Parts: sequence; structure tokens; C-alpha cells
Amino acid sequence: MKFDTLRSEYIPQIAAIERDSFERPWSEQAFLPELADENAHYVVGVQDGQVICYAGFHSVADEAHMTNVAVRRDMRGRGVGKLLMCELLDNARRLGLKHVTLEVRDGNEAAVRLYAGCGFKVEGVRRKYYNNMHDALIMWLHFGEDIG
Ligand SMILES: CC(C)(COP(=O)(O)OP(=O)(O)OC[C@H]1O[C@@H](n2cnc3c(N)ncnc32)[C@H](O)[C@@H]1OP(=O)(O)O)[C@@H](O)C(=O)NCCC(=O)NCCS
Repeated sequence: MKFDTLRSEYIPQIAAIERDSFERPWSEQAFLPELADENAHYVVGVQDGQVICYAGFHSVADEAHMTNVAVRRDMRGRGVGKLLMCELLDNARRLGLKHVTLEVRDGNEAAVRLYAGCGFKVEGVRRKYYNNMHDALIMWLHFGEDIG
């Protein structure tokens, strides 16, 4: 797998992974403005021309606000998510950002473990954020305090 930035030719495959991964997936149209947004930063993992994972954030002052993280279903559980997060966090560091934040559904064990392994900690909860049913955990990573 090699990492690339977001390119228009990847968007149909990314949208397909979104549909297979989330109840409220981003559409292809939702990704298009990201291509031209200088504050939007994406990492796309590509193998043999096929997208196998992607993740992104928006930079806001000295913070990275994560937007999407997903690994294609058949590639999960093999460390791809960890590699993806390391690459994304390296990009955030290189940009001089100091803090990274994301929201994750309480109970999404794979994602929470992935983020915890990168040094993220739960610093807040949005009650019933998802479908008025599931809580959202607000996680933060502060560079300098992380273990990664
Ligand atoms: C969350 C996701 C990106 C993880 O990617 P992955 O490639 O499967 O993750 P990795 O193989 O690198 O594993 C990362 C950690 O999660 C753990 N993990 C992976 N799958 C797991 C599962 N099904 N249940 C519990 N833990 C799991 C691994 O053991 C590892 O933890 P460790 O470092 O403590 O051993 C992937 O499951 C996914 O795309 N899920 C659907 C989309 C999603 O929920 N995205 C996050 C939105 S906030």
C-alpha cells in the first residue's frame, strides 16, 4: 500500500467504502469541495490502483478536526487503520498543528481502540448524538502528550 492525497479519481471508490461503512455516508458530491479546500487534508491508501483506506481532517487554527476514517471492509483488522492514522497524524504534525480532535460513536470498539492506541483520550461526550440514540465520544490528541 502507498499513501497518496485525495484525487478526484479516488472519490467513487471512497464513496463506495463510505456507503459500506456508515449509516450516514458522505456522497461523492460531499467529497468534491475537499479537493479544492486548502484546509482539507486527506490521506488515501492505494494498492494496485484500488483505494483500501482513507482519512482526513480540516485544519482550524492549530487544531486538526477529523472528518472521515475508514478501511475497506475486507482489509480491516490487519493493522491498516493504524498505518493510516500514523500517516495522517504525521501530516498534522508537519503542518505545525498542536491538537487533533474527532467524534466517534460510543460502542465503535475498533475505532475507539484505534484512536486510543494513537494516544487519543476521551474528553467529552455528546449524548444521543447519533440518530438520537448513541452517544458521541469526543476524543483529543495533544501533540507532546501522545505516546505515538
Ligand atoms: C475503525 C477502522 C478504521 C479500524 O481499521 P482497522 O484497519 O480494522 O484497524 P487496525 O487493524 O489497525 O486495528 C486498530 C486497533 O483496533 C483494534 N480492532 C480492530 N478491529 C477491531 C474490532 N472489530 N473489535 C475490537 N477491536 C478491533 C485492533 O486490535 C487494534 O487495537 P490494538 O492496537 O490495541 O491491538 C475500521 O474498522 C473501519 O473502517 N470501520 C468502519 C468505519 C468506522 O467506524 N470509522 C471510524 C469512524 S469514527
